[in-house]
Amino acid sequence: MTPEEKVGQMMQLDARPGVEDLVLDKHVGSILHASPERLAQAHALTEQTRLRIPLLVGEDCIHGHSFFVGATIFPTQLGLASSWDAALAEQVARATAVEVAATGVHWTFSPVLCIARDLRWGRVDETFGEDPFLIGELASAMVRGYQGAGLDDPTAILATAKHFAGYSETQGGRDASEADISRRKLRSWFLPPFERVAREGCSTFMLGYQTTDGVPITVNDWLLNDVLRGEWGYTGTLITDWDNVGRMVWEQKVQPDYAHAAAAAVKAGNDMVMTTPGFFQGALDAIESGLLAESELDAAVSRILTLKFRLGLFENPRRPDAAAQAAVVGSAAHAELNLAVARRSLVLLRNQGVLPLAGGLTATTGTGFAGALRAAPAAGSKTIAVVGPLADDAQTQLGDWAGNSGQADWLPDGQPEDMIVTVLDGLRATVPGDWTVTHTRGADILTLEPDPEGAFFPDGQPRPPVVVPVEPDHAMIDQAVAAARDADYVVAVVGDRIELVGEGRSTATLELIGGQKALLDALAATGTPMIVVLLASKPLVLPDSALDAAALLWVANPGMQGGQAIAELLLGLTDPAGRLPISFARHAGQQPTYYNQIRGQHGDRYADLTQRPAFAFGEGLSYTTVEYTDLVLDTEQVAPDGVIRGRITLTNTGDRPARETVQVYVSDTVTSVSWADKELKTFRQADVAPGASVTVELELPVAECTIVDAAGNRVVEPGAFELLVGRSSRDEDLLRAGFTVA
Ligand code: IFM
Repeated sequence: MTPEEKVGQMMQLDARPGVEDLVLDKHVGSILHASPERLAQAHALTEQTRLRIPLLVGEDCIHGHSFFVGATIFPTQLGLASSWDAALAEQVARATAVEVAATGVHWTFSPVLCIARDLRWGRVDETFGEDPFLIGELASAMVRGYQGAGLDDPTAILATAKHFAGYSETQGGRDASEADISRRKLRSWFLPPFERVAREGCSTFMLGYQTTDGVPITVNDWLLNDVLRGEWGYTGTLITDWDNVGRMVWEQKVQPDYAHAAAAAVKAGNDMVMTTPGFFQGALDAIESGLLAESELDAAVSRILTLKFRLGLFENPRRPDAAAQAAVVGSAAHAELNLAVARRSLVLLRNQGVLPLAGGLTATTGTGFAGALRAAPAAGSKTIAVVGPLADDAQTQLGDWAGNSGQADWLPDGQPEDMIVTVLDGLRATVPGDWTVTHTRGADILTLEPDPEGAFFPDGQPRPPVVVPVEPDHAMIDQAVAAARDADYVVAVVGDRIELVGEGRSTATLELIGGQKALLDALAATGTPMIVVLLASKPLVLPDSALDAAALLWVANPGMQGGQAIAELLLGLTDPAGRLPISFARHAGQQPTYYNQIRGQHGDRYADLTQRPAFAFGEGLSYTTVEYTDLVLDTEQVAPDGVIRGRITLTNTGDRPARETVQVYVSDTVTSVSWADKELKTFRQADVAPGASVTVELELPVAECTIVDAAGNRVVEPGAFELLVGRSSRDEDLLRAGFTVA
């Protein structure tokens, strides 16, 4: 290969502006954001190149194929995380891989392993929440689902663990700001999920945008070489984030020009450089001037070619397959899976007895968890007033990376609306025949204005517009109030809109903006029982009218079938089982509120606000009550290489079935360095029928009961521990049993 061909293989470029120059002049190894037409053109051009090395096609298929009309869009990662169900996550990833592979895409930039600690960050929706253990469980399941039986399986796609590492530890929640994070803190919380998927064979890792301790991640030798490639022995492929190499020149200003930036990125071990067109000439200039030896490209190029060989692209370039697309993209089977996942993603946070509506059911035909629906309510006729700006907002319901974030410019209308069931659609389709569903909007949320800083960033990328909340519209509110007064129930669907979500779209406020709070306050004053459906990409700060409502249901963007799942739950055709993968704050200024913070010091509080979250990690209600009793451990003394075994009894004291997520936390009583008071170490899910008791067996290797000591080593420190088992991370929801590691 010539130096040009080698440098080209290391590049992934944006196909949207055109592909001729990329393929013929830059010998590009990979493209992303390619419409079907561009993809066909790029493949044809590749045939004209000297070596005819097949293209690797990447895409952000984060919760379904984001850039293909008619693809199945599942709940976002945060919604999926609310299920606490790794098997479900694996199924979602498998179904996504099957659709994505049929469209000729070989590589998805998913899953996201960032820890969401600051709710103001615009990408909280893309994460699995705040806990490293839960993130590791779900991320490794998704990697298995994407990569299938092996990369030579034509339905397997490459998974990407991103964003390596610490990117979410932002300043003030602002995206891509400096990550002020120590090596010990990285080792304690941020690296473990990445280490897990690295060791389990995740094919690629993507960097974030962050700078830590003055060093852009793109050239962070300690993380990339000492930790990832060295300690973990990772042999997969490393890709930068968008224009990370260029950013070192024009944004972070730590390199004088593209030649120096390219040389530094190659020497630091990056294999593929995403969307830095200037890398091509920069790398060639670096070789010419002696900043870089041509042989220094070889390790990266061989890792990229190895990926292409492992995918079998040289024999079968895996181009779009029209027949396969017709069979699998947006298929009925995937819609069914999507509905099952949406049902499991709903988290009931409050219920003053109003749900299920009209007392629910007269008969049961199934458990209500796994897809088997119960019989419809047989109460007399009722009227539901469906109110709120998000009750019928198809695109916002899908969330980010669903062809609606302005990035898929050949998908002008996003995904087809007739594939999407909104809350209004779902209720209309599901209520008994003699019920009435009315609809009023009640409030608007925002308008958009051009960013006063200018229309473009220095690299020529468009600046997203600025969000301006609208004032409450009293005529709209009056109309909603009248509808609520005429109804037996009001279902108010409020939350955040897609313009408040995503890369570069962090929010200073976490409150319900626009006319939404005034709407909820007015509806609450009617006295009609109000069910607040919080359709929000991330936990928001809620007004009292929502916190004190008759019921409150949090729904992270629930995907195409979300409205159907919500309707079934409200009507009691299914039972709620979701648990929070992330805490809800009471105030944006209270950040952070994650449960596993370093144990408190006396001043670690506000004078004017409790530090307790509004809803804690792990919380979530059922339509029944389940008591946890009799936590027993087999032995109180275990060796460092031993296993803690025990059991707990769950008793369903109500008349509806429950799917419990039994959460097991460990508290190391005294640690050599300050540490979290409790950490999730494992969990089990158990179905408990009305009136029944079940015993859940618990098992935890002592090797999991580690801390990171002052020297940065992960160790088990012998001494006293407690096992905390219960339904959420709140102390009042946990039973405790002591054990000693000796
Ligand atoms: O994969 C994404 C990444 O998460 C953020 N920057 C852009 C990439 C490609 O679209």
